Amino acid sequence: MYNFDEIIDRRNTNALNTDGFRGYIFHAGPEKVFPYKDEEFVRMWVADMEFGTAPEILDALRARIDRRIFGYTGVYDDGYYQSFRKWCLDRYGWEPKQEELCISPGIIPALYQLTEILCGPGEKVLISTPAYGYFLHAAEYAHKEALFSPLRKDGKGAFSLDYEDFEAKCADPKCKLVFWCNPHNPTGRMWTRDELSRAGAIMAKYNLWVVSDEIHCDLSRQGKRHIPMASVMEGYPKLITCMSPSKTFNIAGLAFSNILIRDSATRAQFRNRDKLFGMVNPLSLTAAKAAYDQGGAWLEALRAYLDENFAFVKRFLDTELPEAVMNIPEATYLAWVDLSRCLLDVEDLPAFFANEAGVLLEGGDALFVGNAKGYIRLNLAMPRSVIRTGLERMRDAILRHRL
Ligand SMILES: Cc1ncc(COP(=O)(O)O)c(C=O)c1O
Repeated sequence: MYNFDEIIDRRNTNALNTDGFRGYIFHAGPEKVFPYKDEEFVRMWVADMEFGTAPEILDALRARIDRRIFGYTGVYDDGYYQSFRKWCLDRYGWEPKQEELCISPGIIPALYQLTEILCGPGEKVLISTPAYGYFLHAAEYAHKEALFSPLRKDGKGAFSLDYEDFEAKCADPKCKLVFWCNPHNPTGRMWTRDELSRAGAIMAKYNLWVVSDEIHCDLSRQGKRHIPMASVMEGYPKLITCMSPSKTFNIAGLAFSNILIRDSATRAQFRNRDKLFGMVNPLSLTAAKAAYDQGGAWLEALRAYLDENFAFVKRFLDTELPEAVMNIPEATYLAWVDLSRCLLDVEDLPAFFANEAGVLLEGGDALFVGNAKGYIRLNLAMPRSVIRTGLERMRDAILRHRL
């Protein structure tokens, strides 16, 4: 019914994925050239998908376009909240509160704004590493120091919290805010209820603000169910939850996310600082509501396809590159692969694969904050045939390098 094998041409759409990689990955402009033409790259980098969004969302957008007027728009009726509420109840058995819901054009701008609001002079932000780069950027933007707590690695592809280290960092008297990522980007860990409870108890013990970034929560492997931190830290006033249909349905460019702020004074401050004064893009609102109302069947088909992609990549690595270490993650469409035993002497893995394999990917400490040396992140949200080409090129480049 849905075709995830189709290759969709994204050229000339000003996509970050196709047109913005030089700046993001290589901090370079159009002067930077590679042995591959831009259209020859296999792009396994930024976290958006090569799949068309759900046809149900496209139909809703077309219907909204037919209303012809795109004047100033906010979220005034409770239709959107009801759709989001039903999605959360059906999928995570959790009910978001209507009064807590704020809309932001993205989780990134919300992270920036929240750091400014929640951290005073000299106060610090805690991040578990490896980490999504914008956690650090948000701290830097607000001129706040970041504390890092490295996740434990077992060397076989599993990651866990180092509770002792995490608590020691939380206990820093200047630590004020934790960016908690659930499921975790880039490792794909979906924290268990026990892990969430233990971490939550530590953060609560030190009375910290907790921003739980749950943007990847719908993209779990089949059979896995997301546990919102809000359902574990019930009643904890200093919890903020970030969720969005943007990753789930490949509509990140429509810029529409849910920020749930429990504390009413902080919520008021967040809204007061909103430079869009509550305005939203009417097409974004339409797409987000349609996603929650009608996107379920498409999402189930997507999850089945992604599970197959992970199984395919795992099989490929096990047979063709046995020194590469990867566990199939519990969530996200991102594979976090340890290549340290394959490419011992290569410092800059994204540059190596761009130049030697024509594959765009992210990896290492420069893009994932720390505790990421030797690792690459592969985006698997694309037709399997494209993944196969990417992996074959990567394997060939690694083998050539070893000669
Ligand atoms: C953990 C995490 N948070 C936030 C974002 C981006 O959020 P937004 O597009 O809503 O700004 C991403 C995108 O990759 C992400 O992985």
